[in-house]
Amino acid sequence: MLAIEQVGIIKKYGFKINEAQLDDMIYLDASLKESIRLTQRTVCERKVENDYVFSNGSVIKKGSIVKFDLFSHSRDKRIHGIDPHSFVPERNLLNKTKLSDVSLSSFTWSVGEHKCPAIGYSITQLKIVAAIFIRYFQIGQASNLNAEHKGYKMLNTIRHVNAELYLKPHNILEYNLT
Ligand code: HEM
Repeated sequence: MLAIEQVGIIKKYGFKINEAQLDDMIYLDASLKESIRLTQRTVCERKVENDYVFSNGSVIKKGSIVKFDLFSHSRDKRIHGIDPHSFVPERNLLNKTKLSDVSLSSFTWSVGEHKCPAIGYSITQLKIVAAIFIRYFQIGQASNLNAEHKGYKMLNTIRHVNAELYLKPHNILEYNLT
């Protein structure tokens, strides 16, 4: 799908990528959003300035460090729909959510006054670099490009179990898209 989308964009605008084409990279947008959803671990590490009392009486003491558990939030079926552990870019197309969205259900950039200030810049860079890789290489996690994904391991960050990446140069316009 990513290759098909790029071929369509090359046919429409020519091979040179510019910022104006990035809005047409809809499946790439959905794929990047899904990829970040599955690999972000925690955000919003904060120090509590005053005792904070919840409605049920629980207290977070002044000076405590709290973090938002984005791992669980990003895998919540109620927000992301069925099979939340799997990489399914189509969920973003169905939900009509974009990588640039900032909301409780689209937490890529956090929310509120300390959300990432570099959203537009980051999306531009991510899309341009990803589009270049898709145009110039077939990408896989093993020398057999059809090998299955081996899943993730959870450390302080989330890593691929198989950290290898295989890039096979290709001419995307001659690539068999069927
Ligand atoms: C894929 C790329 C990126 C992602 C997913 C991302 C995500 C985030 C998130 C989730 C936060 C909030 C963290 C928190 O509240 O604990 C944040 C904050 C921040 N980001 Fe990014 N970011 C990205 C790229 C960048 C880049 C390229 C820059 C700078 C050029 C940048 C600068 C910042 C800064 C300065 C903050 C702190 C904002 C504040 O505390 O008010 N980010 N980012």
